[in-house]
Amino acid sequence: MDVVLGIDVGTSGTKTVAVSASGAVLGSATVGYEMHVPQAGWAEQNPEDWWRATHESVRQVMEGLAGNGMSVNVAGISFSGQMHGLVPLDAQGNVVRPSIIWCDVRTGSQAETLERNIGRETIIGWTENPPLPNFTVTKLLWMREHEPDLYAKIATVQLPKDYVRYRMTGRLAMEVTDASGTLMLDVAHRRWSEELCKAAGIPLEWLPELHEATDIVGQVTGYAAALMGVPEGTPVVAGAADQAAGAIGLGIIRPGVVSAVFGTSGVVLTAMDHPVRDPAGRLHTFCHTAQDRWYTMGVTQAAGGSLQWYGRRLADAERSVASQMGVDPYTLMMQEAVQAPAGSEGLVFLPYLMGERTPHLNPDARGAWLGLTWRHERQHLVRSVLEGVSFSLRDCWEIIAGLGAKADAWRVSGGGAQGRVWMEIFASVLGSAVETIGGAHGPAYGAAILAAQGVGILGKNAEAVSAWIPAGDVVQPNSKWIETYERLYPIFRSGYTATKALGEQLARM
Ligand code: XUL
Repeated sequence: MDVVLGIDVGTSGTKTVAVSASGAVLGSATVGYEMHVPQAGWAEQNPEDWWRATHESVRQVMEGLAGNGMSVNVAGISFSGQMHGLVPLDAQGNVVRPSIIWCDVRTGSQAETLERNIGRETIIGWTENPPLPNFTVTKLLWMREHEPDLYAKIATVQLPKDYVRYRMTGRLAMEVTDASGTLMLDVAHRRWSEELCKAAGIPLEWLPELHEATDIVGQVTGYAAALMGVPEGTPVVAGAADQAAGAIGLGIIRPGVVSAVFGTSGVVLTAMDHPVRDPAGRLHTFCHTAQDRWYTMGVTQAAGGSLQWYGRRLADAERSVASQMGVDPYTLMMQEAVQAPAGSEGLVFLPYLMGERTPHLNPDARGAWLGLTWRHERQHLVRSVLEGVSFSLRDCWEIIAGLGAKADAWRVSGGGAQGRVWMEIFASVLGSAVETIGGAHGPAYGAAILAAQGVGILGKNAEAVSAWIPAGDVVQPNSKWIETYERLYPIFRSGYTATKALGEQLARM
């Protein structure tokens, strides 16, 4: 039986899934690794750990299939990867220093310098995006300033999953969806931005050959084959950034279908048939996995993260009852939330527990409860958290919609989407039905779709991909809540403006 392997090189671990030619997940395995924090605000990983976790997870999946008596032919392998991480290599292909990964924020001053020297509008004009500290180019500039000896050794640059693919195939390559997050790509024309590289002083020869996500870019070497337990010569397909792979895994390919992912952070994303730029730079505009597609996304930093915070800090009672009953504490929190009315009796939660990306682009934004009274009980607190996060995701959507996008259908996924009441609140905040897609295998499943497309098992159009994606449950908005949320949303928005200066003062204390 033909299978494809999708490998997601994530932040906490690497996950491999084996998927049949009809889209069924036959096996999966995850191998974890550490994120190192040498100083506050820094985040590094060892690329060797990614490679080890990759070959170990592939081997586990292959052994699992064999153990179940399945005889499979691996038709292709592809990737999804955490974005933005810098993997600098020397002329022999050795890693020059540990990778500075996506959530490292040491490069604020390099981002500011780029903006000052080149100009924000010029940069957005070249790359569709503003200079943000998480983008890869700022990490190169940091090395140039702080580690000149190591910087002098750089011969080529890779992103996390591209490095792993290099170890698997011996071939250096990049593809446009992930290159979008380097700030060195001309996203509109899907080619390196010579202008940006020249202005930033980054040698163009460091940047590898660019591909589309479904291009076959190499074959498994004998060395990698022996480690992974798959045949030498198996085709390896370029793959995509985790957001792009996650989107294709939910069938977000054509304009009009919008996804909201309720992970620790929350992402609202829609595909476009041309690059749509936010002149204020509050959204990310990146290349999608098909050559004629782009996507635009907004990010709420603490979506599921806000509920996790509530669960860990304030829901001891629910946690202890849940452990006695042997149920998930979040199930109890959802049951509590239903007991409060829509609008939580005048209680508004601002979910800026980790600063905010969209729409405020403010790392010093701070969370708050507004309108607290003696009357409010736990059910109001938890419900207001679900409502505040939903409003914040609506903020993301309002900006995308303001650029001309339409939402004919909404698909929701991620851990938070399993809370039915939360999805009913979200649907009511949007005033639109939402479809919950299981998507338990997330971007790894999207990577398997890319592998299948790359080797010709699966078509590249939306209809072909839809056949692989199981239909979800539809959650309708609650007609009794919509009006309350329409009244509350402007108050939520004013909440940020009214508390911005206070939050910033407190952040500086
Ligand atoms: C996207 C982003 C994350 C990382 C880590 O801009 O920062 O999705 O790719 O998962």
